[in-house]
Amino acid sequence: MDVEEMKRRAAVEAVEYVKDGMIVGLGTGSTAKYAIEEIGRMVREGMEVIGIATSKQSEELARKNGIEIGDINEYEEIDVTIDGADEIDEKLNLIKGGGGALLREKIVAAASKMEVIVADERKLVKKFSFPLPVEVVKFGWRRTADKLSSMGFKPHLRHGFVTDNGNYILDCEYEELDEGMEGKINSIPGVVENGLFINMADIAIIAFKNGDVRKIKRL
Ligand code: A5P
Repeated sequence: MDVEEMKRRAAVEAVEYVKDGMIVGLGTGSTAKYAIEEIGRMVREGMEVIGIATSKQSEELARKNGIEIGDINEYEEIDVTIDGADEIDEKLNLIKGGGGALLREKIVAAASKMEVIVADERKLVKKFSFPLPVEVVKFGWRRTADKLSSMGFKPHLRHGFVTDNGNYILDCEYEELDEGMEGKINSIPGVVENGLFINMADIAIIAFKNGDVRKIKRL
């Protein structure tokens, strides 16, 4: 199975959690894309759902696929969200934000009764190494980057990129990343959110090259 097939396979398994009448969080990225397309197919077959998009890109794709888009402020809870990840560890903690949508993704995940992560086997790791995306306001971003450096990170501005919220992304290299960093990073003035998702995923659906699909549930 090639990478695209693996992504699609995981996404197709995940949409089994989507039922008629649900409010559904729509993730961002090349894996979540397959889930949106699949939900679109189910909608064309008569299922009714309201999609809550995690990015402008996903909103556009969902609309193209005939999915009605709702405003997150109108719904107290999202029934299920299907999203991708850049890395997933064995405790189901995640690094997200490779596509720059981490802030809306985290807001949607936090409002979801069930967060389902879809990925191919390359994303499942013992130890995080993917540079951690940190969304920062434009004002004083260099000073914000200095604070991240003094915490031991090596931040790199994502050149030419502005998030859907009008902010910059600093991709931060590190030696070790512990769970406590999620909150510590967010306490720096200028940081809006970071891509470390601790205890947010409920289930990860991982597709393997040999055709296996593994579901990892949070204990
Ligand atoms: C978007 O900001 C990210 O969090 C994506 O969910 C993540 O980068 C996974 O994307 P792919 O499925 O394209 O690898």
